[in-house]
Amino acid sequence: MPRGVRTSPLGTQEVPGSPYRVRVLQVGYSIPQADGTCRADGSITLVWGGLVTALVDTGGPWDRQRLPQLLSEQGLSPGDITHVVCTHGHSDHAGNINLFPAATLLLGWDLSRADGLYLRHGLAAGQPVQLHPGLVEVVPTPGHTRSHVSLVVRGTAAGTVVVAGDVFERERDEGQWRALSEDPAEQERSRRRVLAMADVIVPGHGPPFRVLRDTGFLLVPEDGEGATSGDGSKQHENAPRGDGTFRSGPKEDEDGAGGGSML
Ligand SMILES: [Fe+2]
Repeated sequence: MPRGVRTSPLGTQEVPGSPYRVRVLQVGYSIPQADGTCRADGSITLVWGGLVTALVDTGGPWDRQRLPQLLSEQGLSPGDITHVVCTHGHSDHAGNINLFPAATLLLGWDLSRADGLYLRHGLAAGQPVQLHPGLVEVVPTPGHTRSHVSLVVRGTAAGTVVVAGDVFERERDEGQWRALSEDPAEQERSRRRVLAMADVIVPGHGPPFRVLRDTGFLLVPEDGEGATSGDGSKQHENAPRGDGTFRSGPKEDEDGAGGGSML
């Protein structure tokens, strides 16, 4: 964990926001078994409320019956999903893409439309894929797998939410994630980038957690978000109340609802 950064449980599976809110439909888990096997499933996260209705990861194939039910509890059906983003191709994250034949699909660095047309993008060069410019984008976060991606949602009531797949197994996963990584050095860099931009992280195999940047440390991500003020101090603007709701709304300069082109 970088100096000056700490985390704490979010305590809720939903982050409200306008236009976009985020709900973890299924909290992923991984439970080592006594015989050396591991029982696991990936987090499934819904991002919706604006022009994009995105599902991030689809669980394992054993969730095929469960996933439509999880969507229906939010008033949605699989046909309402406009974009499916699979953070990487492991079976507990990409097991149900066939439930969404009408959606634009981004699986790792494969970006395709519903008609089977594969689109160019700049993920391999570090460039994000904009789903709703200024609000929802996919960024490359290689390491766990070399084409791993994460979804970034800006302007929620909790600030910036990063649905990070297996960049993070769970909160406090030090000592666990390297053994599962294709490229630990690359993943370490991705973890630092995500920690620098996120106010909330949805990990691949645990409940969502908050990222807190302590007073007196300068931690400036590329877009300047989360930077300390001139005197080096920073009060976190989006602290949750005890009931799991949040105090502040989206920042005005992040509210680009309806603007820009969509993928
Ligand atoms: Fe994985």
